[in-house]
Amino acid sequence: MNAPTLPSRVDIVEVGLRDGIQAEPVYVRTDEKIAIAKALIAAGVKHFEISSFVSPRAVPQLADAAEVVAAVRQEGVTLSALVPNVKGAERAVEAGVDAMVVFMSASESHNLKNVNRTREASMAGFAEVCRIAESAGIPVHGAIATAFGCPFEGIVRVETIADIAKQYADLGMHTVTLGDTTGMATPPLVTERCRAILAARPDLEIALHFHNTRGVGLVCVYAGLIEGITRYESSIGGLGGCPFAPNATGNISTEDLVYMLDEMGIESGVDLAAMIEIAKRAEKAVEHGLPGQLMKAGPRLRTYGMDSVRTAAG
Ligand code: COA
Ligand code: ZN
Repeated sequence: MNAPTLPSRVDIVEVGLRDGIQAEPVYVRTDEKIAIAKALIAAGVKHFEISSFVSPRAVPQLADAAEVVAAVRQEGVTLSALVPNVKGAERAVEAGVDAMVVFMSASESHNLKNVNRTREASMAGFAEVCRIAESAGIPVHGAIATAFGCPFEGIVRVETIADIAKQYADLGMHTVTLGDTTGMATPPLVTERCRAILAARPDLEIALHFHNTRGVGLVCVYAGLIEGITRYESSIGGLGGCPFAPNATGNISTEDLVYMLDEMGIESGVDLAAMIEIAKRAEKAVEHGLPGQLMKAGPRLRTYGMDSVRTAAG
């Protein structure tokens, strides 16, 4: 059997300072957010979803989005941020983001929970967001939350995903992110949904955003690689979860993803050893343990002294 042809390099989008901490009860100080972002840049991360320009009452942890963007902006690094409406777009332009990410859920019930409006109302507002972004010369990406299933409605139809992607493309967006808000993606669903979008709009670039809620996050990345997808969103230490979805757990961990890519010979430009140290720092920042596995186990060829465990004796 022939092995699948996989991309030789991928872009990792670090979402730990957005999706990662948005539901964390302990407020991560602005200077610590900035320090973590700068450490991530030093470790080779070039793409960030750095914060959200949403209502600070809805997501207090990200109320400092503008300060974080101002301090982290630099040549060669792209900072995108979530924008739910026109007010968010105006704040994002003012702050100097490199890209805006509009988002709506594939399911009506999660959209109502997340942004307090119907999908139709969300989409109608995005036209104005796109106009604001265009006049500021900033690209807009479109994210689809609950793209693989909804915690309130269950199955999300593939036709719904393709239809939202088409509407995003009609508004002039080039990139669509399939967000697996509560970890309902499986490899066959990834294959099906990537193919359906590219069949509907071959001009779209797809990004994949998985949560490891059911333990198959990296397997879903592998399914995406087989489809030729080269953009993956992940979170340092496996931080993460949507505050407006029940039982939401962490994103796939960036270090675990880098480890898998390194071992497969797929270039990401991100340094694994440095990422493991930053994941430990992130753990301290949120004041609890994180689910990332490489930060605990270390890389495969980490070795131990013989005296690190006792000898079994009967
Ligand atoms: N940034 C800052 N403040 C905002 C804002 C934005 N993008 N959008 C709205 N607001 C403020 C309004 O100015 C208003 O403030 P006021 O009461 O002091 O006048 C208040 O929020 C209510 O505005 P309204 O337009 O009625 O919004 P809403 O209460 O229906 O909430 C959203 C809608 C979209 C603003 C809110 O649900 C939200 O921010 N959701 C984000 C959810 C999220 O980030 N989820 C995680 C990502 S998956
Ligand atoms: Zn997410």
